[in-house]
Amino acid sequence: MNRRTFISGAAVAGATMAVQPSVAFGTLGSSKVNLGLIGCGGRGNWIADLFAQSDKYRFVACSDYFEDRAKATAGRLQIPADRCYSGLSGYRRLLDSKVDAVVIETPPYFHPQQAADAVEAGKHVFLAKPIAVDAWGCRTIAAAGKKATDKKLVFLVDFQTRANEFYQEAVRRVHAGDLGRLVMGEANYPWEGGPKDAPTGNAEQDLRNWYCVLPISGDFIVEQSIHALDVATWIADRDPIRAAGTGGRTLRPQGSIWDHFAVTYWFPEDLIVSFTSIQCIPGVPDEIRCKFFGAEGVIDTDYFSGVIIRGRKSYKGGRFDQLYTTGAVANIETFHRCIMEGSYANETVAPSVRSNLTAILGREAAYKGGDVTWESLVNSDVRLEPNLKGLKS
Ligand SMILES: NC(=O)c1ccc[n+]([C@@H]2O[C@H](COP(=O)([O-])OP(=O)(O)OC[C@H]3O[C@@H](n4cnc5c(N)ncnc54)[C@H](O)[C@@H]3O)[C@@H](O)[C@H]2O)c1
Repeated sequence: MNRRTFISGAAVAGATMAVQPSVAFGTLGSSKVNLGLIGCGGRGNWIADLFAQSDKYRFVACSDYFEDRAKATAGRLQIPADRCYSGLSGYRRLLDSKVDAVVIETPPYFHPQQAADAVEAGKHVFLAKPIAVDAWGCRTIAAAGKKATDKKLVFLVDFQTRANEFYQEAVRRVHAGDLGRLVMGEANYPWEGGPKDAPTGNAEQDLRNWYCVLPISGDFIVEQSIHALDVATWIADRDPIRAAGTGGRTLRPQGSIWDHFAVTYWFPEDLIVSFTSIQCIPGVPDEIRCKFFGAEGVIDTDYFSGVIIRGRKSYKGGRFDQLYTTGAVANIETFHRCIMEGSYANETVAPSVRSNLTAILGREAAYKGGDVTWESLVNSDVRLEPNLKGLKS
């Protein structure tokens, strides 16, 4: 079900947490949060099990564009048939029904509208990465995150790396100056997999194969490589100034997304980040790597193996191989804790907007085969619009 070969969450440990009873049993009436799942595909079903295993949530509604998928998930999660919705506007009916929070696991194109509507409807939001496919979408999520804070709602973007203690501590040390002045970074995302479909022009067919449809996925630099670029911008702790890029579609058919990108980013204070990502190459081991070199040492991070700092002030960090699951579990715990404690700072939103815009900047620079500035990108009104003609409302 997942794009990479992960061992899914059999051994999920629940963390203890301090709950303010007045909050826990105030607005919600119980410490169990009533959830609606929007997007009943691979990730949606997988993460729904983790929510359920935590025993802090109960799924009471679900929606998917495709009725059979929504029904299958409703059956699995014991959701009543009359709270199972389909079609493009099914999620709106879900929002009108009694849910405290939504888990959005649809393709990226739909995230901004669905998340903004959820906040408007007064629901807490747990959102899959990437947040959007274009700058308009990123701005929409930024505004929705702020509105959530104003409305005392929790809005959490599910990046697993940001939830990991070793990543957190290592990046904290970099920001405290342990590497000295940062000189250069490398971010890489190689993957042996990746479907090779081309859009057909049939809207339903293309929604099934959305990953290869640029306006729905945002291309794989946004849809997948965001994991590497999110760590890079987290470490860099600043917006890029510009990017220059290249890449292409050598292994995928015409009309499909690209299969390789090579982008150089320029950040303030002469910090350079070199990014590459490639798909569809048999034998490529799983790696989502980000290294930064500073005057005093190097931080080396990989989603699949661990985090370490070498140099004058070293940090032994830690090894791990289950971040796909443990990161999601940690985010599920944090989401519940924030709802119970009334913590509405929504700190995952701004960094997610930054890294998503950085990925889009790289994509646009590569498509252009030249330079694109951050300023022109963040203010861009260009919107990616898929063909939704003929889809059921
Ligand atoms: N490590 C991670 O954080 C991670 C891993 C996998 C997927 N994801 C993210 O999860 C999201 C979903 O990915 P997936 O792999 O589950 O895809 P998927 O295709 O398996 O599932 C998506 C589901 O959404 C449904 N859908 C499409 N448009 C819809 C709409 N407008 N309204 C309601 N439902 C709609 C589809 O029918 C499908 O069932 C993506 O944003 C992806 O990037 C994140």
